[in-house]
Amino acid sequence: MMLRAVSWTCFLLGHVPLVVSNPSGLQEVFEVYQPVPFAPESNNDCDVQVLLMDHVFGASYGQPFVGNYTPPKCNFDTVRINFTVESRGRQYDRLALMYLGDYEVFRTSTAEPTSTGITWTYVKEMSQYNSLWQSPQKVIFDLGNEITDVYTGYYNATLTAHFSHTGNAKTADMILPISARKSASDSSSDFQLPTDNATVQYKIPAEASRAVVSISACGQSAEEFWWANVFSQDTWDFNSTIGELYGYSPFREVQLYIDGMLAGVVWPFPVIFTGGVAPGFWRPIVGIDAFDLRQPEIDISPFLPLVQDGQEHSFEIRVTGLNISADGTATFADTVGSYWVVTGNIFLYLDGTSSRVVHGHSPPTIEAPAPKFSVMRHLVQNQTGFNETLSYSVIAERTFKATSSQFSWSQKLSYSNHGYLNQQGLSQVNDQHTWGDNAISEVGEKGRSSRTSFEYPLLVNNTYALTANSMTIDAWMKRGLDIDADEGLGISTYTLTSGPVRLHTRQAGSAHYQSVDNQNSTSSGETIDEFEGTADGQAYKRSVRAINGTVVADTNPGNGASVSSHTPNVGALNGLGRDSVRSMLGRGPGRL
Ligand SMILES: *[C@@H]1O[C@H](CO)[C@@H](O)[C@H](O)[C@H]1NC(C)=O
Ligand SMILES: *[C@@H]1O[C@H](CO)[C@@H](O)[C@H](O)[C@H]1NC(C)=O
Ligand SMILES: *[C@@H]1O[C@H](CO)[C@@H](O)[C@H](O)[C@H]1NC(C)=O
Ligand SMILES: *[C@@H]1O[C@H](CO)[C@@H](O)[C@H](O)[C@H]1NC(C)=O
Ligand SMILES: *[C@@H]1O[C@H](CO)[C@@H](O)[C@H](O)[C@H]1NC(C)=O
Ligand SMILES: *[C@@H]1O[C@H](CO)[C@@H](O)[C@H](O)[C@H]1NC(C)=O
Ligand SMILES: *[C@@H]1O[C@H](CO)[C@@H](O)[C@H](O)[C@H]1NC(C)=O
Ligand SMILES: *[C@@H]1O[C@H](CO)[C@@H](O)[C@H](O)[C@H]1NC(C)=O
Ligand SMILES: *[C@@H]1O[C@H](CO)[C@@H](O)[C@H](O)[C@H]1NC(C)=O
Ligand SMILES: *[C@@H]1O[C@H](CO)[C@@H](O)[C@H](O)[C@H]1NC(C)=O
Repeated sequence: MMLRAVSWTCFLLGHVPLVVSNPSGLQEVFEVYQPVPFAPESNNDCDVQVLLMDHVFGASYGQPFVGNYTPPKCNFDTVRINFTVESRGRQYDRLALMYLGDYEVFRTSTAEPTSTGITWTYVKEMSQYNSLWQSPQKVIFDLGNEITDVYTGYYNATLTAHFSHTGNAKTADMILPISARKSASDSSSDFQLPTDNATVQYKIPAEASRAVVSISACGQSAEEFWWANVFSQDTWDFNSTIGELYGYSPFREVQLYIDGMLAGVVWPFPVIFTGGVAPGFWRPIVGIDAFDLRQPEIDISPFLPLVQDGQEHSFEIRVTGLNISADGTATFADTVGSYWVVTGNIFLYLDGTSSRVVHGHSPPTIEAPAPKFSVMRHLVQNQTGFNETLSYSVIAERTFKATSSQFSWSQKLSYSNHGYLNQQGLSQVNDQHTWGDNAISEVGEKGRSSRTSFEYPLLVNNTYALTANSMTIDAWMKRGLDIDADEGLGISTYTLTSGPVRLHTRQAGSAHYQSVDNQNSTSSGETIDEFEGTADGQAYKRSVRAINGTVVADTNPGNGASVSSHTPNVGALNGLGRDSVRSMLGRGPGRL
């Protein structure tokens, strides 16, 4: 509940565009994040760069890139990747999943190109997957793109990995995938919920002393803007103006089950891709985490006494929204709209002793009181019976605790979302807050404990205006991501590092989109991004402001923010003719 007041005044001064020419002539787009050195200094003679992929993603739906990785012949403990993409033309933002065999190791999304072309680089810590990098792997990169007469943008992608020995990477000894495990057929191993059943069975070795599950999950299609979804009974409220709305409420919970017992939950971060809400927000600054979707973690060490009996145990990931009954009671729907892309990894830390007492199938004590939901919905009609406005809200709270002889995993989570649609659904605002506190503690008086707390504020207003020959979107947003975490067990797939982390980041802006028959559509916008973080003892701060595709103020210029002076004042889908909002955003007025 600690939404910090942010002062943007410092950015409102400079109006002079910072113009740095880019040798390739392509505009650089970027995510504001704490820089990760691609080639850190090695403390022995290991310093190797490997090209993992150089590939053009054209008609690539169901056709992932497949390549082979062979470990370098030196003693490495640190792996970083450089993912660089170029694109020119017109194209949607696309989701991409990178796998080593059956293991998802990176989830990213693409920026939408322009007619003059864009490029971006994202450098990512990958040492958490050391136990995989030590052996040969099939690299599968699934970036499903489509090329048509209208959508002409290819994604030309290069992926390099750098291997070194820094002596400071703490990583898991063994990893097991919670995935569809389809690498043998050169396919992507994601589960799509609710269609698939995301269950796997494993024997957990007796040598494991700690176990953590990372969960990678995001909504697509009817679930991309899950935080703006309405109650299922309201999906047709404004059919004649904006068509179908999506249901199951704006609340989502991702759940992990072990042998059918709840082991922990994730209340997801509302990621917004570069075509999301209004494209004018996201060039050249993309949304928070759009280039690297964090994978929250659930420490399942309390379940080790249950699963270390030499037998197979099931691990299942589910995603649920809410069903709201006529009397206003909210319950888990045990399903969601179509669809969520989900995988997980089980990270095992081995202590070398297989003589651990086999605990004989002893389940942890679970304290999981029913979550508290409080919901409200109010549909107002005008005097002739037309639905005029809808206000609704969901407030949720829950605690969870799993305890066994040595460890206790506890979670405390809160959520609220207030939604309001007016102008017969043409205008919608959602004000959402998610916050939580997770801890893993050693049982006993002197037991150590490690906490992660987070907060995700989100406020979005978007308004459509339609006339016989034109369509506009006016939108503004304010959002953020805060993380405060103690030192973890190894490199965290959530904090993206192993030491203590403090992260405070905010984005705010307004955007406009206009399309008029027989004219090129235009997109404009202004975005402010403020980042303040400390990771592994390094502090990093950056404030950037962009207007109409150009960076006008930046406290750290040269950090992926060089800007072409010729950036036209047009948006992602600049082209002749009129795009319906629904074809562009997957929701709102018009045809898909
Ligand atoms: C990342 O790779 C691209 C293309 O391969 C290269 O131009 C760029 O300099 C690399 N960035 C870093 C930080 O190594
Ligand atoms: C991407 O690759 C294709 C095919 O090689 C090439 O025609 C195109 O110019 C490249 N696009 C960019 C933006 O470099
Ligand atoms: C998935 O399958 C397992 C059995 O393999 C079953 O126990 C579980 O209930 C199923 N999950 C769903 C969501 O249907
Ligand atoms: C108003 O909303 C209700 C509930 O969704 C729906 O059944 C009804 O058809 C709507 N009325 C109009 C005129 O669209
Ligand atoms: C929604 O509107 C479409 C097009 O006007 C119509 O075909 C459909 O029957 C409507 N659906 C509902 C549930 O009102
Ligand atoms: C929630 O509603 C959906 C759609 O009506 C239904 O399929 C699902 O079974 C409901 N969930 C529960 C737990 O009743
Ligand atoms: C109610 O809304 C409908 C649809 O926009 C409109 O035709 C009608 O005139 C409105 N009625 C009143 C009393 O404003
Ligand atoms: C959302 O924006 C529209 C258009 O700018 C405005 O009319 C409306 O009042 C805003 N809604 C809220 C709740 O601020
Ligand atoms: C639309 O933009 C293209 C260049 O991207 C230009 O050639 C064309 O003249 C423009 N059309 C209109 C109607 O402005
Ligand atoms: C950004 O573009 C919009 C639409 O073309 C224009 O109205 C606005 O003045 C531009 N803003 C700046 C600061 O150039």
